[in-house]
Amino acid sequence: MSLRTRSSRLSVPQIISRKGKEKIVCLTAYSAPMAALLDAHVDLILVGDSVGMVVHGLPSTIGVTLEMMIMHGQAVMRGSERALVVIDLPFGSYESSPAHAYASAVRVMQQTGCQAVKIEACEGIAETVAFLVQRGIPVVGHVGLRPQAVNTDGGFKTKGHTADEHQRILNDARQVSAAGAFAIVVEGVVAQLADDITRAIAVPTIGIGASSACDGQILVVDDMLGGFAWTPRFVRRYANLHTLIEASVAAYAMDVKSADFPNSSEIYTARKA
Ligand code: KIV
Repeated sequence: MSLRTRSSRLSVPQIISRKGKEKIVCLTAYSAPMAALLDAHVDLILVGDSVGMVVHGLPSTIGVTLEMMIMHGQAVMRGSERALVVIDLPFGSYESSPAHAYASAVRVMQQTGCQAVKIEACEGIAETVAFLVQRGIPVVGHVGLRPQAVNTDGGFKTKGHTADEHQRILNDARQVSAAGAFAIVVEGVVAQLADDITRAIAVPTIGIGASSACDGQILVVDDMLGGFAWTPRFVRRYANLHTLIEASVAAYAMDVKSADFPNSSEIYTARKA
């Protein structure tokens, strides 16, 4: 019997070493088959709490639970073997104290085998990041547009339009980085702010609706594949899956109704004795 102790996945230090050198390719995934398709092409897979909106039809990420993140995280780990896998800590699972965040992160890491967790920059974030990192939990921060703040913000609003907001978000990024986060997602900010953050911190920035100066880019995989009729401005569509799926399902329905499906090559006949 051989013991498999070495991981073939990219490591946290390898991601950090890309800063300013080689762009980091990231996408979200929520299922094993999608993770398997992405694995050879991306450096980092994020099991984002966007799963609540993309897969479960929720209006925001607020209803996403730790159990949902663990279930989708396990699927993504089964489907991939090369990419570094990061799982979001969902709303309500980390904000109240560093100890609460630690308990949630330990559950996620032990039950999925993922290498890191991501948390949004809320009040007390620096203390929480330091607490986790000092205990062996790699953390990705998330600044700018924070989907979990949708209710206090009154919607999903881009950030960095005023000098005050620019400074506040730059400070968030500096604090999270100084506390030990190994990368920071910068979401939905004016490009100049993303550039300033990327220059100001020592670890990689991963942009989404941010700027090409970021050290890496991430998109929600269903958005870039055209899974929905509408896509936000910052998404580049590489396919049009929703029209392909609609047309395929309509054709299937027609074939079933007309009894064209299944035909003689699509059914089983008894084997000759
Ligand atoms: O939940 C998510 O998918 C994310 C990305 C948008 C970065 O946080």
